[in-house]
Amino acid sequence: MEAIRISAARRALGGQFVLSLSRSWVCRSCRGLPVAFRQFSRSQTTSSKPYYVTTPIFYVNAAPHVGHMYSMVLADVLKRWQQLKGKPAILCTGTDEHGMKVQKAAALEDMAPKEFCDANAAKFKALAQKANISYDRFIRTTDADHMQAVEHFWFLLREKGLIYERKHSGWYCVSDECFYPESQIEKRQDPFTGEVFMASMETGNKVEWSEEMNYHFRMTALKAKLLEFYAKNPDWIVPATRMNHVVDWVKNHLEDLSISRPRERLSWGIRVPDDSSQTIYVWVDALINYITQAGFPGWTPGREMEGGWPADVHVIGKDIMRFHCVYWPALLLALDLPLPKQILSHAHWTMDRRKMSKSVGNVVNPTFAMDRWGVDTMRFYMVHDGGISDDADYNNSMISQRYKKHLQGGIGNLTGRIAASKSWGLPEAVGSEGAKFEGLTRFGGLLMPIANKSFQQLFTAHHLEMASVARTVGMRMQKLDLSGALQHLMDNVSRTNHLIDETAPWALVKDSGNPESRELLHRVIFLAAENIRISAILLQPFMPTKAAEVLDALGVSEDKRTIEYAKPYTDFDYGSPIVPIEKGAWSGIFPRLLEG
Ligand code: MSP
Repeated sequence: MEAIRISAARRALGGQFVLSLSRSWVCRSCRGLPVAFRQFSRSQTTSSKPYYVTTPIFYVNAAPHVGHMYSMVLADVLKRWQQLKGKPAILCTGTDEHGMKVQKAAALEDMAPKEFCDANAAKFKALAQKANISYDRFIRTTDADHMQAVEHFWFLLREKGLIYERKHSGWYCVSDECFYPESQIEKRQDPFTGEVFMASMETGNKVEWSEEMNYHFRMTALKAKLLEFYAKNPDWIVPATRMNHVVDWVKNHLEDLSISRPRERLSWGIRVPDDSSQTIYVWVDALINYITQAGFPGWTPGREMEGGWPADVHVIGKDIMRFHCVYWPALLLALDLPLPKQILSHAHWTMDRRKMSKSVGNVVNPTFAMDRWGVDTMRFYMVHDGGISDDADYNNSMISQRYKKHLQGGIGNLTGRIAASKSWGLPEAVGSEGAKFEGLTRFGGLLMPIANKSFQQLFTAHHLEMASVARTVGMRMQKLDLSGALQHLMDNVSRTNHLIDETAPWALVKDSGNPESRELLHRVIFLAAENIRISAILLQPFMPTKAAEVLDALGVSEDKRTIEYAKPYTDFDYGSPIVPIEKGAWSGIFPRLLEG
């Protein structure tokens, strides 16, 4: 067992806090030692680590909007993709409830902060449920285990001598919940009221001057380690271009971080252990949620990774990069804890090219949007059109266009053509043609020659595309290019629609007395069905309900919907819909939009 020594404490610890220190995450052989000499257990465990993906935890000062839903959907698709591959996976989402911003919002509503948080956290939870986010925990920073985790974290930082107290003067921004250095502040004027105020150059949000005693985290001590980490992991942030900004910031602007506020200013938060006159800085509190969920500090020696840490991906918006790409790794490095493996930082949804935000008042309510378009249509739209590098403008007519082209006209139409036609039977096509393909692998399509050369060419091309879909989608998912993966699936669907158009099975039906035409007919239907089956299996993480409806319509059994089956000729038992379809009169999986 490899163990990491915790450096000697620089300050005496308060008795009450030491007593509350959990024993389980301290290396067994060190439990008898004074606290300052105990060691973390960090064995190279052989126990399995689930895939672990997180969303940011959302401020409860306002109701959720589609920007929040976007982070949730991206994380959910990543989790479901792993599950499709047969890997255990965990998704954690939740709410960030402490801090000045929430304290002020509660006061404005004339509510006690906790009561205010309960009401608003419920809205985010309802959003996660409605959007079909398969979260394993909805964490709230007011949860008892989280508050304990934060206290332990603080205690360990202090034990390492990385916390000190000094007077702090600077510009605090309540909206962004952070201090800004003088160099990043400018004068602005409100265009409506004429009020002149000081604001952050980066976000435009108002700042206020404050001078107070507070605790600081010796973040500058981690500068070299941070820079070394970035240099060794150039792909840590997706998109990688955002890394430059982070490196530049650490090189040129890194300072020690103020990590507490006087209680008389900020009472809504976790008290500093042993100094109840101070409240822990909300970002330190919030970031720790990621390890609370993973079991910190109750990690059992040798099994630390079972809770998921280190996270495989933190999904975040680009506006909170500094907190996740500088503060969070610095805090983790300070305690010799492993860093998250990747950060997926997405761009913003805008409305008329302005960032959607509560303060501007240009937000789209995701619940209304899902009621209007359907849950899976919204999930589809967000992943397909949402920005990673560049912002994306939210646009209802684009949603309608995507629906008509890709969903109703694409996968929906294809499923209807194949599974619900009065002119042919899918079970017969899978039965007669499928049996011939059984046992054939990658080049199966090439091994099944038919006399008609032009059909043969079409089938071969179709086969080759179909055989590589799962691999291409998998590679894009691996690169966290979710939109690219979805677009590839849609291209695949539209290619199949073309195959049908070009082979015109309705003409073959008319000549089905002829054995050659009948064979061709069955082969077209079978190859098209294979491609819908494969596409729908791979679409499950993106549109869980609709993909399941497609697979139901094809009659694919529940146990044959995993990635191993996303290859041609791996399932010959489908064809009869799970829920009976009224042929010719089926309204389909993606019905016509009411608007026409
Ligand atoms: N509470 C912090 C996060 C703490 S994580 C340890 C926070 N909360 S937030 O509610 O303001 O934002 C949550 C997420 O929503 C962020 O990733 C943010 O980028 C994202 N979005 C907020 N507005 C957005 C858009 N208009 N578009 C896309 N995402 C947006 O920051």
